[in-house]
Amino acid sequence: MCGIVGYIGVKEATPVLLKGLKKLEYRGYDSAGIAVLGGGGLEVCKAKGALKNLEEKVSALTSGAPASQAGFPEAQFSGTMGIGHTRWATHGEPSDINSHPHTDVSGKIAVVHNGIIENHGKIKEWLSGRGVSFRSETDTEVIAHLINYYYSGDILAAVQEALKRLEGSYALGIICENDRDHIIAVRKESPLVIGRGRGENLIASDVPALLAYTRDVYYLDDREIAVLSRDDVAFYNEDGERIRKTLSHVDWDAAAAEKGGYEHFMLKEINEQPKALTDTLRPRIIRDGQLSLRSVNLTEIGFDASWAEAKRVVICACGTAWHAAMVGKYAFEHFARIPSDAEIASEYRYRNPISSPRDICIIISQSGETADTLAALRLAKKNGGRIIAITNVVGSTLAREADLVMYTWAGPEIAVASTKAFTTQLMCVYLIALQTGFLRGHLDQEELDRHIAALEQIPAQAETVLAGKEAIQRFASLCFNKSKVFFIGRLFDYAASLESALKLKEISYTHSEAFAAGELKHGPIALADESTLVTALCTQEALFEKMDSNIKEVKARKASTSVITYDDVHHFDRSADTVFRIPRTPDCFTPMLSVIPCQLYAYYCSVLRGNDPDKPRNLAKSVTVE
Ligand code: AGP
Repeated sequence: MCGIVGYIGVKEATPVLLKGLKKLEYRGYDSAGIAVLGGGGLEVCKAKGALKNLEEKVSALTSGAPASQAGFPEAQFSGTMGIGHTRWATHGEPSDINSHPHTDVSGKIAVVHNGIIENHGKIKEWLSGRGVSFRSETDTEVIAHLINYYYSGDILAAVQEALKRLEGSYALGIICENDRDHIIAVRKESPLVIGRGRGENLIASDVPALLAYTRDVYYLDDREIAVLSRDDVAFYNEDGERIRKTLSHVDWDAAAAEKGGYEHFMLKEINEQPKALTDTLRPRIIRDGQLSLRSVNLTEIGFDASWAEAKRVVICACGTAWHAAMVGKYAFEHFARIPSDAEIASEYRYRNPISSPRDICIIISQSGETADTLAALRLAKKNGGRIIAITNVVGSTLAREADLVMYTWAGPEIAVASTKAFTTQLMCVYLIALQTGFLRGHLDQEELDRHIAALEQIPAQAETVLAGKEAIQRFASLCFNKSKVFFIGRLFDYAASLESALKLKEISYTHSEAFAAGELKHGPIALADESTLVTALCTQEALFEKMDSNIKEVKARKASTSVITYDDVHHFDRSADTVFRIPRTPDCFTPMLSVIPCQLYAYYCSVLRGNDPDKPRNLAKSVTVE
């Protein structure tokens, strides 16, 4: 979703802004723009489409600059402060005019915005009644005009007044031609990070855009305002009082957010799963007692016996993270025997859910900024539930609002399609479920040790699955044009099927669906024909016979079939056209392995179809609006 950058310092702002926007491309966008404040006053350049359109436009303006009186070219877009934006259209089509930054009538105030101003219609009407004419169809433009309305020489005061009128979500970057020493940044329900440099300070929607300049960041809380100057950052609460904020240090280095020799971020991230899984698991395992058996150590996050007394576990998330929630539901029932629900956050937030203070609510989100997921968190909190967050982003809104936070140590995930975040989310839910089962007495120490030993094998086993990528690539080269692809499975395989189907549709644009295999006969099998590929995930040993029947049923309707099963299982060799194998692990842990061939398959299909797997059409990495 929209990306914001801002710079104030001693460097030329234009290249810093363009470079920063490049780092935010992964969020998804359809136009981009910058506003720079320098000798030429406030200059704005905007372009529909890819960032390179903006770069070309800026460079054409710069090189075509007229000669000044002194005989030197007038430096256009030369200045040491500015703001930039990648726009993911919500109000008004992608176009130059609708792109940000938006300026007020005087052209002296420029605003970039991520979020939605819900009452923009009313404000527009009000401003129109006062003679303001609007140029774009966006909700954002009202902010620039509103600030101008309240402006009488103090930009901070004008912003503070304007904010009182805004309803909805916003992260804002604001500059004013009459104030060449400050950028104003504000956030409410949309992410914004402040980078603290030496003699320079920055704003960005996400950390990768800052890493070339600093790893010291401030995370703004809702309704807080930051005023950045070259040497300082001052913070204010919504009542206008000065507040102090703590500086956080980001451990990722810039290289972690680069492609590192891979053709795409997605392929890099798929291949990073063994390390990400190790990093997520290892710090949470200890050995103790005379027998030196393994235990789960979640004291670091504050998870003690009181959490295990819960009457019910509700796991809320969106998209891929919701598929992790499905696995979590099965895992909690399996290991801890607690009633569990996996809830789609966008549904949960509008229901009137029956909840009790004895519920624990696990909220899963890679970004920690998904609007629906945060709304579900707030609802669960309001209803008295205790909240555990599973997130990949340190300092994200989710991390700050939850009671406990368990981080997935996956490192930055840049590709829009989630891969390593998913498998590490699974690792986290398994650890919490195992520990809960142990604390509730459903698992004894030896059983716990055995399960953890199996988890410890997963990273190396994931490496083995990745080593088989050429077979998947070959298979994709034969099947990438199938018009329908179904993934079927039962229990844990059903959850992994949901994720596999989502991956394929997101980046290859193939119509793919997941079905609980037992449901086939209740409708979906009507779709099976020679243009269909059915991939059956078969790792739930007790249900092999059932799955074999399902495979035969679709085959009888001329569908092509492939199976993912254990490397020592030959049950499906006759019924399936192709068999892919994963190493043995307990049936309940297989999603962490079985999803990997499906991620690779989706990736190769995307490339073979000529798509950009990192930036699929219409999708944003972080869905910060509803
Ligand atoms: C995953 O491939 C998707 N891009 C999407 O479904 C994503 O998982 C969803 O938007 C939730 O994001 P979050 O984990 O950052 O909350």
